[in-house]
Amino acid sequence: MRTETPVSVKLEDYTPYPFEIDSVSLDFSLELEATRVRTKMSVRRVRPGEFVLDGEGLTLNDISIDGSPLQVSDYKIADNKLTIADVPDTFTLETDVTINPKANTALSGLYVSAGRFCSQCEATGFRRITYWPDRPDVMSRFHVRIDADKATYPILLSNGTPGKAGDLPGGRHFAEWDDPHPKPSYLFALCAGDYDVWRDSFTTMNGDHVDLGVYVDKGQADRAEWAMESLKASMKWDEERFGRAYDLGVFNIVAVRDFNFGAMENKGLNIFNSAYVLASPDSATDADFEAIESIVGHEYFHNWTGNRITCRDWFQLCLKEGLTVFRDQEFSSDLRSRPVQRIKDVMRLRARQFAEDGGPLAHPVRPQAYGSIDNLYTATVYEKGAELIRALTVLIGDDAFNKGMQIYFDEYDGTASTIEDFYSCFEKASGKDLSQFRLWYAQAGTPEVTVVEEWDEAKSELTLTLSQKTPPTPKQDKKKPVPIPLRAALLDGKGGHVEAEGWQDGETVIVLDKAEKTVKVNLSKGSARPLLSINREFSAPVRVRRDLDKAGLLKLAAAETDPFNIWDCFQSLAKTEIFRLLDEPQSPPDDALVSAMADAVRLNESDPAFAALLTVLPDVGELFQDREPADPAGLDSARKRLRKAFAEALAGDITRILEQPSPTPFKPSAEQAGTRALRGAMIGLTGALGTPEAASQLKSHFDSASNMTESLACLRSLIPLPGKARDEAIETFYARWKDNPLVIDKWFAVQAGQGTAEDARRLSEHPDFDMSNPNRVRSVAAAFSMTNLAAFHAPDGKGHEVIADIIQRADKLNPALAARLLTSFEQWKKLEPKARASAKTVLERLQEAGLSKNAMDIVTRALD
Ligand code: PHE
Ligand code: ZN
Repeated sequence: MRTETPVSVKLEDYTPYPFEIDSVSLDFSLELEATRVRTKMSVRRVRPGEFVLDGEGLTLNDISIDGSPLQVSDYKIADNKLTIADVPDTFTLETDVTINPKANTALSGLYVSAGRFCSQCEATGFRRITYWPDRPDVMSRFHVRIDADKATYPILLSNGTPGKAGDLPGGRHFAEWDDPHPKPSYLFALCAGDYDVWRDSFTTMNGDHVDLGVYVDKGQADRAEWAMESLKASMKWDEERFGRAYDLGVFNIVAVRDFNFGAMENKGLNIFNSAYVLASPDSATDADFEAIESIVGHEYFHNWTGNRITCRDWFQLCLKEGLTVFRDQEFSSDLRSRPVQRIKDVMRLRARQFAEDGGPLAHPVRPQAYGSIDNLYTATVYEKGAELIRALTVLIGDDAFNKGMQIYFDEYDGTASTIEDFYSCFEKASGKDLSQFRLWYAQAGTPEVTVVEEWDEAKSELTLTLSQKTPPTPKQDKKKPVPIPLRAALLDGKGGHVEAEGWQDGETVIVLDKAEKTVKVNLSKGSARPLLSINREFSAPVRVRRDLDKAGLLKLAAAETDPFNIWDCFQSLAKTEIFRLLDEPQSPPDDALVSAMADAVRLNESDPAFAALLTVLPDVGELFQDREPADPAGLDSARKRLRKAFAEALAGDITRILEQPSPTPFKPSAEQAGTRALRGAMIGLTGALGTPEAASQLKSHFDSASNMTESLACLRSLIPLPGKARDEAIETFYARWKDNPLVIDKWFAVQAGQGTAEDARRLSEHPDFDMSNPNRVRSVAAAFSMTNLAAFHAPDGKGHEVIADIIQRADKLNPALAARLLTSFEQWKKLEPKARASAKTVLERLQEAGLSKNAMDIVTRALD
């Protein structure tokens, strides 16, 4: 049994490191099973305290101070720490360790993927490479030397810029890399192997030349072109939007197939999950192109928000992640459509973050304690963290925000900072006290805002009573009011706004900063009652409750001038209707509502990306946050009934739209992607019709599809329609793509995402299923447990069992992956009694069996 009781680390226990390490040289002698790492660091005491280094799974060969070898009695190695009792105030420490990258299945530290070396050091992987104070506030200048067999590893990469290189005896060679910017160890990276490279260059706004390279599998270089285009667009955008230029002569991206997350912002050497690098028109969907653009942007933007200014400790993770997600969302909005981007971001937030915030794993954006740092890379830190920055821009205005960002870049460059440091910049820029706003970072849970309107005809006065309440979350019963900036507008019902005293063009920002607040809106005498548009563009990450019935919401949707809110009105309408259908299984979907939904799609056809989003009904995961006890199967079938009626109402449009040819030649542009998004939506609705004709139409569209977006949409729609068309499509797709692992991941995911527990089990036993590859494991396990809730939470418990089995096997190899998969159980307490009981049994069984520290941390909190 490998049970380790999670020990919690606390924010209040932070103490600065007693030493500074101005520079370090790392010397790697690469061998698959026995890599030698020689480290030489110059250490300087800056305050009292012990000299302690982190180290995990290292075999220590030699250790010396100022050239004199240490005796075993001079130091102590215990609990993954090396402590040297008596050290001079200034000294040089040299260590020599051996590690086994080949045996590293956790994919943290130095490991081997497809025969090539690569590294992952965030958050605490560097201690698996050498002894080091592995904490983000210890920053040092890194000099790296790598030697390796030249034939097998012709390319040797690390951070910074290349130095000397040359041949060595015995068929080996070496390369040196220098990074002039002091950095924490989590940003260290090393890659070695044989790659094809897509090269380009960029000239910064300062006139500096930067060599760019995207390193991929042999024979795949042309599939790196889009990533490269995205990189150049990111570099340009950060200059134009934030005045930030790149600061080294080299920027490299390396794609690896085995990677725990999306990508990693190592200084000058980003390492990416190949899913977010490789793309070609035939093999990648528009969603893939879009994700590549946004993740390349995200990692690049970290160069300023994360690398030049890093985090003092891991409690400040949102300082780099929330801010960088905000930056990548803005980047995508500027390159594509702002309202469409906003809707997609909110869909993701509601599906993942709101769910997390409402369950046993809820935690503040900046937690006060954690059991396992790997488990802190959550939707709350990333997505809610980004929402808070966005809310800040609404609260203080764009000018003060931009000014605050410049103060931040100027004052904190080169430091390891905190949320307090960051907010002090916006206090300076805006002259406002933001201490109440910072409560958002300390309180978990999604605030609920209730809006009550009262109209006084005689006075032409609208009274708004706004109140807020945040539900209790684990270890936080009582919540204080937070400042909630709500963008609002008064709608005239004719596509315009109504003027009111103190409002600008009928718009304002209402800041709800108390438990309850009354706002009087005075209109000119004789005005008709306006309709209130609130939380426009989703200006604050809250749930809004209004007492609007169906007629009221439809009227509002017709009057809305904010595309986000138009979409959101229909989401609310659909949600309420699905709940009604669940409660009245005999009753048909409401015709009037369905035709209004269909009209909205037609009305917006000239903005096809937006129209496509209007066809998306809230998914089961979101529905179930509002229904306790939740019956996922019931919700799924009620949702399907509404979707079928929706498809029937759009039948003529589906045919008309799909009869038009798909745009050629293929371009991954936002414009073409929009057209394909609407076509994809129509393909999805065809599937919702569920008739035999629909299946054969889908099959023939599948056979003739000229791009992956439509081909995959057809396959997805065919999966739930048993028959020959479906089986053939599954087979043809596999046969065509069996040598492209990223596409086969999709093939697994569409099946697991819509099949039964038996299907998921069968897929996990397929010869191409690979427990050591996170993408493949997720393509079955995450697709099933996170997107197919009706099957995952089926009352017979079979769904829970399949996933628990996969988790248990995955955990032996890769704890971070297993822990992530375990979060699919986070909603278990909300389930109807049968599924709830089964989830509890499974979780307890896992706890009993003993899991890694990461997995244990999730199970323990989930059961708590
Ligand atoms: N810092 C990475 C990002 O957000 C995410 C990551 C965390 C990757 C931990 C690997 C390990 O961009
Ligand atoms: Zn990030």
